[in-house]
Amino acid sequence: MQIAVIGVGYVGLVTAAGLAETGNTVIGHDIDAEKVARLQAGQSPIYEPGLDRLLARNLEEGRLSFTTDLNEAVRQAELVFLALPTPPGASGEADLSFVYAAAEHLAEAFGQHPLNGQAPRIVVTKSTVPVGTARSLQRFFDERLPGLVQVASNPEFLREGFAVEDFLKPDRVVIGTPDPQVGEKLRQLYLPYTRQGNPIYLMDWESAELTKYASNAFLAMRISFMNELARLCEKVGANIDWVRLGMGADSRIGRRYLFAGVGYGGSCFPKDTLALAATARQHGLALHLVEATIHINAQQRQLFWEKIQNYYRGSLQGRTFAVWGVAFKPDTDDIREAPALDLIAWLLEAGAHVRAFDPVALPSLQKARPEWPIYYAKNAYEALTGADGLLILTEWGEFRQPNWPKLRALLRTPVVFDGRNLYDLAEAQKAGIDYLSIGRPAVYAYSQQVGTP
Ligand SMILES: NC(=O)c1ccc[n+]([C@@H]2O[C@H](COP(=O)([O-])OP(=O)(O)OC[C@H]3O[C@@H](n4cnc5c(N)ncnc54)[C@H](O)[C@@H]3O)[C@@H](O)[C@H]2O)c1
Repeated sequence: MQIAVIGVGYVGLVTAAGLAETGNTVIGHDIDAEKVARLQAGQSPIYEPGLDRLLARNLEEGRLSFTTDLNEAVRQAELVFLALPTPPGASGEADLSFVYAAAEHLAEAFGQHPLNGQAPRIVVTKSTVPVGTARSLQRFFDERLPGLVQVASNPEFLREGFAVEDFLKPDRVVIGTPDPQVGEKLRQLYLPYTRQGNPIYLMDWESAELTKYASNAFLAMRISFMNELARLCEKVGANIDWVRLGMGADSRIGRRYLFAGVGYGGSCFPKDTLALAATARQHGLALHLVEATIHINAQQRQLFWEKIQNYYRGSLQGRTFAVWGVAFKPDTDDIREAPALDLIAWLLEAGAHVRAFDPVALPSLQKARPEWPIYYAKNAYEALTGADGLLILTEWGEFRQPNWPKLRALLRTPVVFDGRNLYDLAEAQKAGIDYLSIGRPAVYAYSQQVGTP
């Protein structure tokens, strides 16, 4: 099929390359000329495991190309995927201005370049958009180009860090459309990705749109549930990791998305929970569980921060802190809504110095916060040199087995504030460090020897 993907960020780029992989001809379009130039040169502007190879293969074999020219992108396209940003607006609702700006341009381009035989084009919303968007986009196109555009909803469920794998082998594909022919066309498109028997669900627009928000809100709720429980664990002397293991082994519950920590970040859970709650409010309804999920997550960063302040009895002025991990999760360079953004900001406000390390996300941080006077370390251990404490904010694989004697020797005060519960308490005790994690008893192996710093 001839396909255009509008917006080649994290989702659009993986979608474009993933759709080309099964033999479709795909043109990716973006208004960011620098991004497009890099893609045309075969370089991925984002870090995503497996994406480089997918891009290279499909560019080389001529099925995939990129352009800043919207007309060129859509001239032949029977399917047009929208993978545009939908950031939170002032009251948490999804801001659809990017979607509608693109829709305006698309209507013009479609008007200028009708498909052979005046066949209708299918415009597919891959962006996460609130319930009602597909219906209102359909009205938008019907007013401008009657009968020439059919809108379908096809929410994307990929996880950054596993995006290529998730796109090529999705757990399920959700397609929202009132038109059986549109549904069949999209079903055919996705058949090669579901050969193991994973389902393709055809449903109405509204249900498809809501399925995406419901999935993200549910996963976020599991995390906030565990984070709230972790607070109780700290009060009663329990260990949230044992509780998690005991719960997760129950097949009714499952093991995933039960990790307590400094809270979720990223470009999806924070904004999608806000947008879902806003949609409900617009319909006169309060989604109490979703509101609580958001609230608990915001508190979780604060509580972690308080833990750090309490350790030093409030005075962080002039102290130096190492930060391991600035990405919102491992295997991505995405720092949107990452806990590190808040924690580093608070450290700087408190007059502390910061030495940050992340295997891939430091350039994203430098770009997003060029004014921050922080030291960008070349490796994890360099960040530790002379620091009064280490904050672990992303669970990168390379942080999981540290060289404890080296870590202890490099830190001026060997204390680790672990926002991701990476280490065994016994391991920390043996290493002779102070170790404060989430929902688990604190270890004071260093202070026991020298007194509290
Ligand atoms: N990132 C994820 O893990 C993920 C997963 C599932 C769904 N989503 C949803 O997918 C959508 C896109 O997310 P993302 O993370 O890929 O965002 P992104 O910011 O990485 O990418 C969006 C791209 O759209 C481009 N763009 C903006 N306006 C444009 C226009 N008028 N024409 C052409 N290009 C334009 C931007 O330059 C950017 O490259 C959002 O709605 C998001 O909620 C994201």
